[in-house]
Amino acid sequence: MTSPWLQGVCAIVTGAASGLGRAISRRFVAEGACVVAFDRSESGLAELKNELGAAAETVVGDVTSTADNRAAVITALTTFGSLDVFVGNAGIWDFQRSLEETDANELATAFDELFAVNVKGYLLGARAAVGALRASGGSMIFTLSNASFYPAGGGSLYTASKHAGLGLVRQLAYELAPAVRVNAVAPGGMATGLSGPAAMGLRDESISASFPIDDIMRRHGALRRAATPEDYVGAYVLLASKQSLTATGSVIDLSSVGTPSRPEKTSPDNREG
Ligand SMILES: NC(=O)c1ccc[n+]([C@@H]2O[C@H](COP(=O)([O-])OP(=O)(O)OC[C@H]3O[C@@H](n4cnc5c(N)ncnc54)[C@H](O)[C@@H]3O)[C@@H](O)[C@H]2O)c1
Repeated sequence: MTSPWLQGVCAIVTGAASGLGRAISRRFVAEGACVVAFDRSESGLAELKNELGAAAETVVGDVTSTADNRAAVITALTTFGSLDVFVGNAGIWDFQRSLEETDANELATAFDELFAVNVKGYLLGARAAVGALRASGGSMIFTLSNASFYPAGGGSLYTASKHAGLGLVRQLAYELAPAVRVNAVAPGGMATGLSGPAAMGLRDESISASFPIDDIMRRHGALRRAATPEDYVGAYVLLASKQSLTATGSVIDLSSVGTPSRPEKTSPDNREG
């Protein structure tokens, strides 16, 4: 029998109540970790706590708040005795709204809201966790995206925010070495509850309800696969584990969008001419 990869590890996962964050939390616990699940959704966290039991503690809060990020770190230290991994994952999307179809005032307020979650949230989480991670020799892992490298995974707000996330990973890896490793995973599209800024009227929308995302991934992903959150979590386990002691500033790109997809093969039966 193989031993679990994360025995004795304590992690904070932001955005843990839904989608990818929930899948990461479940898998981390299955690999022997304890998890502080941090999210603004009280009901989603209650469901997760019910499922994971004593291996998980929850913090209801907003990643854009310094105090709430501190509360997550204090919860990790008081409940589990240490913090080994901070997973910055909570994010919102702009549903690919283009520059010209967005009113200028809306653009300004949506920028503040989206960057506050996707960039400031990562930065404040890192700031709150860094002392405890120095003490444990731990690491940070951030969720990036195909939109950290390429256009068209979002509109200009989302793409710029995920490019900023890449800059944050590189800068923090540089600043915090050799004490704390800082890495990232870049997933591609998946059907989740991913929502958008209230300023754009998108707070109650979700990518899974509004977009044929599975279909898009099947058609345009190089691997023709409609990935689920569970498909991406192995990379987080790898980066959180002792198998990655030499990794910092690295991004595992799982988006399969950077590799151009080949045209569908035409079978002899439906060839024209
Ligand atoms: N779904 C995709 O197609 C896709 C593709 C690439 C990258 N991503 C990234 O994956 C990450 C997770 O997204 P998901 O698809 O699982 O979406 P999701 O909405 O299912 O999960 C995100 C969670 O973050 C929480 N959250 C949002 N704002 C918050 C805030 N201010 N404070 C606390 N919690 C907050 C939400 O309540 C939700 O539970 C995001 O960083 C997203 O950008 C998603």
